[in-house]
Amino acid sequence: MIRTVQWADGKVRIIDQTKLPAQEVYLDIDDYQELARAIREMRIRGAPALGVAAAYGVALGAFQVQAATKEEFLAGLHDVISTIGATRPTARNLFWALERMQRVAEQAPDVGTARARLLSEALRMEREDEEINRAIGRHGAALILDGFRVLTHCNAGALATVAYGTALGVIRAAVEDGKRVHVYIDETRPLLQGSRLTAWELIQDGIPATLVTDNMAGHFLRRGQINCVVVGADRIAANGDVANKIGTYTLAVLAHENGVPFYVAAPTSTIDLSTATGDDIPIEERDPAEVTHLDGKQIAPEGITAANPAFDVTPHRYVSAIVTEKGVLRPPYGPALARAVSNEE
Ligand code: MRU
Repeated sequence: MIRTVQWADGKVRIIDQTKLPAQEVYLDIDDYQELARAIREMRIRGAPALGVAAAYGVALGAFQVQAATKEEFLAGLHDVISTIGATRPTARNLFWALERMQRVAEQAPDVGTARARLLSEALRMEREDEEINRAIGRHGAALILDGFRVLTHCNAGALATVAYGTALGVIRAAVEDGKRVHVYIDETRPLLQGSRLTAWELIQDGIPATLVTDNMAGHFLRRGQINCVVVGADRIAANGDVANKIGTYTLAVLAHENGVPFYVAAPTSTIDLSTATGDDIPIEERDPAEVTHLDGKQIAPEGITAANPAFDVTPHRYVSAIVTEKGVLRPPYGPALARAVSNEE
């Protein structure tokens, strides 16, 4: 299985997701500003992958900062962390990783130790991410029965993490348990993470799948052709409201209307207890050209206004369960999420 982000020969190696599925291109990055650009341009994307990439960005930056004293070092590192923090606002994992790296830097006795510990911490986060996803998969697999048809949106697979995936991790674990699963993949406009990335992963794994356009989901749900929906998350508020790829809310309402369970699979690093409800989650607005153009080709008339919010919020009442590495959380989500996070340390 591919590794989306890893440390190789003193550089951060990522697979360039803007080139998939046509080309499998890897980028070796040794400059934190270049890494920040890669995040903004979505060469690497998906909440957990962004967390690990951000951590490696700080590790790179720590070697780039010129400093004679720890105070100078922390001031320089502050600029590195601010640059990476300004790339994409919605995924909690990115800020969770930056905060974790900041603490490591502050606790180090001197500049040399700080640099070494920051790199070890990023390496640890890369390792942990795969273990966490496998635990999410093990817990979530129980929700998928033999013969299930599962609908997913966007890409919450290996490509959105270091390896294995969250929503796709649940599906992979069910398949590894010997269950027959058929995946319905929303193509996920405007950037087509479903058709470009999720379809690519499932083809590689030989898991049976059918690609549908986003507006077909209701049709299949109403006809009883979907047994459950499983998606990832970019940020989960303290009350269980979930921010995920634009279109997730629509799916959740359609699933509820048709009595189909709607599951969210995410690591506890996606949970943000300091955000009370989904209304407080910052939603990234991207370039309208991503809507008016497809793969560089103009598909809307010149002069039309286009909106491009990258995420939406699904109220917790539509969420049947949240699958974390700690186990499957059920409503009421307030206490369940607080428990899952506090067990963390
Ligand atoms: O804009 P993207 O491609 O970064 O959005 C990704 C998603 O919305 C994923 O569903 C989410 O990050 C969970 S990934 C395990």
